[in-house]
Amino acid sequence: MLTAYDYVGARLAEAAGVDAILVGDSLANVVLGLPDTRPVTVAMIAHHTRAVRRGAPATFVVADLPYLADATPDRALEAAEVLLKEAGADAVKLEGAKVEVVRALVAAGVPVMGHLGLTPQTASQLGGYRVQGKDLEAARRLLADARALEAAGVFAIVLEMVPAPLAERITAAVGVPTIGIGAGAGTDGQVLVFHDVLGLFEDFTPRFAKRYLEGAELFRAAIRAYAEDVRAGRFPGPEHASGIAPEVLAALDREV
Ligand code: KIV
Repeated sequence: MLTAYDYVGARLAEAAGVDAILVGDSLANVVLGLPDTRPVTVAMIAHHTRAVRRGAPATFVVADLPYLADATPDRALEAAEVLLKEAGADAVKLEGAKVEVVRALVAAGVPVMGHLGLTPQTASQLGGYRVQGKDLEAARRLLADARALEAAGVFAIVLEMVPAPLAERITAAVGVPTIGIGAGAGTDGQVLVFHDVLGLFEDFTPRFAKRYLEGAELFRAAIRAYAEDVRAGRFPGPEHASGIAPEVLAALDREV
């Protein structure tokens, strides 16, 4: 699973054969340059989901429920209606063990993905962006939350920044797939942020992310080459421009 936020990214992800795309509220950081995900709205996720759906018509698309859009079952249902019916998502993801909200969504026929461990929307209540579930009480709670989410009807659970052995135990304890991010190799699947995989976001690279490309370097070099070509008169060349019939030009020249 990979995040995507626009048409081009979704096309690339689908062509590369990812199993699912997440339109994550991480778009706050990597697309909008915001310090956290809380300002993201349903309208923003819907806007990006529409573009992703156009770029990846054949891939399972999960749209994030942004901060407070899942505060009550009614609010979550309204948001899900927009994201599934209008924007074209196949499912929604929500952070935390909000079992009542999950139950209401599932009862209404909305596929729901859970998200436990480091939940960025409430990171300030979790002591910041740090590994979760490290002591016995916290580990027990995570396991219990995963079981509760499964019982409420989620079809999968993202485990973010959870110690690998705990993620393995949660994976063994629940009957739905777990998708890890910073949770080791023992989950059923993995998810990463598009910009982290391609090396496009340089403000901060989480330790758990693997860069498969130095994208920012390559993009900068290409843009520099373009600017230098323009300044040096090397671009555009004749092959980049269109002509006009000589008689039209001659007539125009007579007028000016
Ligand atoms: O918003 C997001 O991209 C996410 C992933 C990091 C799981 O929730």
